[in-house]
Amino acid sequence: MTIKRSHVRTSNQRFNKYLAPFCILLIALSLILFLALKSSPHSTSNTLSKNGAASISTSDASNNLPEVPRFAYFITGTIGDGARLHRLLRAVYHPRNYYLLHLDLEASDAERVDLAKNFKEVKNVMVVGKANLVTSKGPTMVACMLHAIALLLKQGKDWNWFINLSASDYPLMPQDDILHIFSYLPRDLNFLEHTTNIGWKEFQRARPIIIDPGLYHSKKSGVFWAKEKRSMPSSFKLFMGSSWVVLTRPFLEFCIWGWDNLPRTLVMYYTNFLSSSEGYFHTVICNHKDFQNTTVNHDMHYIKWDNPPKQFPVNLTIEHFSDMVESGAPFGHSFAKDDPVLDKIDDELLGMGRSGEGQRRIVNGKTDAIKPSGSSKRLEKLVSDLLSSENFRSKQCK
Ligand SMILES: *[C@@H]1O[C@H](CO)[C@@H](O)[C@H](O)[C@H]1NC(C)=O
Ligand SMILES: *[C@@H]1O[C@H](CO)[C@@H](O)[C@H](O)[C@H]1NC(C)=O
Ligand SMILES: *[C@@H]1O[C@H](CO)[C@@H](O)[C@H](O)[C@H]1NC(C)=O
Repeated sequence: MTIKRSHVRTSNQRFNKYLAPFCILLIALSLILFLALKSSPHSTSNTLSKNGAASISTSDASNNLPEVPRFAYFITGTIGDGARLHRLLRAVYHPRNYYLLHLDLEASDAERVDLAKNFKEVKNVMVVGKANLVTSKGPTMVACMLHAIALLLKQGKDWNWFINLSASDYPLMPQDDILHIFSYLPRDLNFLEHTTNIGWKEFQRARPIIIDPGLYHSKKSGVFWAKEKRSMPSSFKLFMGSSWVVLTRPFLEFCIWGWDNLPRTLVMYYTNFLSSSEGYFHTVICNHKDFQNTTVNHDMHYIKWDNPPKQFPVNLTIEHFSDMVESGAPFGHSFAKDDPVLDKIDDELLGMGRSGEGQRRIVNGKTDAIKPSGSSKRLEKLVSDLLSSENFRSKQCK
C-alpha cells in the first residue's frame, strides 16, 4: 500500500452554508457557540473488504483524490485545566473538524466562560455549558462521553470519526497529516485497543460491583463497593482495553440511537463496573456482528507504561521524544502541564513554533485545504502495519 500523491485541496468543500446560530446564551450557559454546518454531500468510495486485509486504494488512474474526512473531537478536563485544553485545541485545530470541549463539574462556570471566550468567533468549536460530574473510574465517565457523542451527532452533520482526548494528551503530528492518511481509509474502521484476555481484571473489575454516587449526587466523591460479587456475563463476551478510541459515526449512531438493544443493555451492565470506559465500547463493538469486523486493535496513542505498570502511565518528556515520533501514533499520552517537550512538539512536529501561531490559525483558519507534511509517512506506516493481513483480521475481537 502506498499513498503517494500530495493532497492539497482548495475550498470547494468548505462549510458552504451556515445555518442560523444556535444559542449564543453565554449568560445562560446552556450550549455555547456552535453553528450547524452543512457542506456538500460526501461520497465515500472506500469500503472494507469482507475478508483479508483492508486496503487503501490510491489508484492513479482516476484523478479523483479521495474525499477528505472530518473528525469530531471531544476534549475533556477538570478544574484548572482551562489553559491546557486551550493549548491542546490550538494544536489539533483544523477548520474541517468539529470540537466539543468539556470542563467537568469541578471546574467553575467562570473557568468555562473563560475558555469559551477564546472561540467566540469560531464556528466549529463548542464548549459544553451544562457540565457533567465525572467520577474517576466511575460510569459517569461513559455517561459524559455518550452525552458528548449525542451533542456532536446533533450539531455536526457530516463528520466521519469521533476522537476522544483529555487535557494530558497532545498530538504528535499536524491535523493535515492525519486527515490526509484517513482520507484513504475505509470509513467504517473503528480504532480501539481491545482484548478478551482480561486476566487479573476478572477479579479486580468484572466481579466486583461498584456504585458511583456521582450518578445521583452533585458533589464528587469516590465510588464504593458492594459486598457481593457477581459472576462473569454469559449472554455476551467481555472485552477490555484502552479508553482512548477513534470511532466511526455509523457505530456511534448505533450506540446512541439504539435500534438494537445491546448498547443500552451494556450501559446498564457497566453502571456497576469499575473503569467502565476501558470496556464499554469494546464490548458493544465486539458483540455485534455488524461491527466486529470493523475493529482495528490500536488506540492511535503513544502511551508508555512502567514495567511493571503502575496505576498511571509515565509522563512523557524530551527523553521520550524520538520514541514518540517513531511510533507513528498521531497522539501521545500523558504529558504534564507545560512540559518542555510540548514546546519541542510544537516546534518540530506541528510547525507552530512562533508564539501565538496556533491561535492565529484558529482565528484565521478559513480554508479547509490540507497540506500534509513528512509526518504523514509515519502514520501511513503505522496504519499499513495495522491493516496488513497478519495483523488486521487476526487481532479483531480476540
Ligand atoms: C475518553 O476521554 C476521557 C477523558 O480523558 C477519558 O477519561 C475516558 O476514559 C475516555 N474514554 C471513554 C470511553 O470514555
Ligand atoms: C466477519 O468476519 C468473519 C471472519 O473473517 C466472517 O466469517 C463473517 O461472516 C464476517 N461478518 C460480517 C458481518 O461480514
Ligand atoms: C505526571 O505529572 C503530573 C503533573 O502534571 C503529576 O501530578 C503526576 O503525578 C505525574 N505522573 C507520573 C506517573 O509521574
